[in-house]
Amino acid sequence: MSISNEAPKARTTLQTLSRMAAAGEPFACLTCYDATTARFLAAGGVRVLLVGDTAAEVVLGLDRTIDMPLDVLLALTAGVKRGAPDAVVMGDMPFMSYQASDADAVRNAGRFLTHGRADIVKIEADAGYAGRIAKVVHAGIPVCGHVGSRPQTMALTGGYAAAGRTPEAARRVVDDAVALEGAGCSMLLIEAVPPEVTAMVLAKTSVPLIGIGAGTACHGQVLVLQDLVGMSARPPRFAEPVADLGSGFTAAAREWVKRVSERQIGGETYAMKAPVAGNEGARQKSRTGPGSTL
Ligand code: KIV
Repeated sequence: MSISNEAPKARTTLQTLSRMAAAGEPFACLTCYDATTARFLAAGGVRVLLVGDTAAEVVLGLDRTIDMPLDVLLALTAGVKRGAPDAVVMGDMPFMSYQASDADAVRNAGRFLTHGRADIVKIEADAGYAGRIAKVVHAGIPVCGHVGSRPQTMALTGGYAAAGRTPEAARRVVDDAVALEGAGCSMLLIEAVPPEVTAMVLAKTSVPLIGIGAGTACHGQVLVLQDLVGMSARPPRFAEPVADLGSGFTAAAREWVKRVSERQIGGETYAMKAPVAGNEGARQKSRTGPGSTL
């Protein structure tokens, strides 16, 4: 069976992604935080929508992803799934939703499936989390293990940085990936590592590998949507914008401001059902014709 990346006609599942990876067909993934955008991205053929904790920055305007509130991310995830029911929606488990205990991890991952309607959760983890992730998987929750650069550890590492750039660091990333696959992860995501590290991970694991700033060899590629469409002030070096929607919004806003200030707006409106006493001459046209209640 041929699996096309052109606007999928059928629902994408985790099994679809495994088949695409096995067949050497790269699949596209983007972050997404709302139902409307999800609908357009899915229509464009994006198979996986990641409701990332980057929502802290791009939706809430916070400085750090570790400040992302779990309940807000759950609500955003459900919105994305409603907008794109046929895409794989991945909920990103935010800082402190799984780090403190196995029980937290299982309960909060479960909430992504129930409240958030997610198909899979993503957990930033090293090999030390393998046991915890095995418990989440045992509870029936598909997991994507996020290795390489892990922004939720920024307080420890001193900020967002690339990973795996020395032989020892590269080995650690590979060991993490192998351990997380062993724990039952259905997918892996690798962030900001040299392509040599990605090649080693691909050689030692068999589940689909999604990359971000990790070279071209990954089965899938993800980017923060705002970086792709020209709405980020400082996109990372690996993000190549393909559109300039930021300027498009500004131009639309300018045009709106101009029309409002010139009183071009507000003329097409509702008709009175009965004349206002003393103001009979002021009746205006109905926007959508007689009888419209819009
Ligand atoms: O939160 C997020 O958006 C992510 C991607 C950058 C991979 O984890």
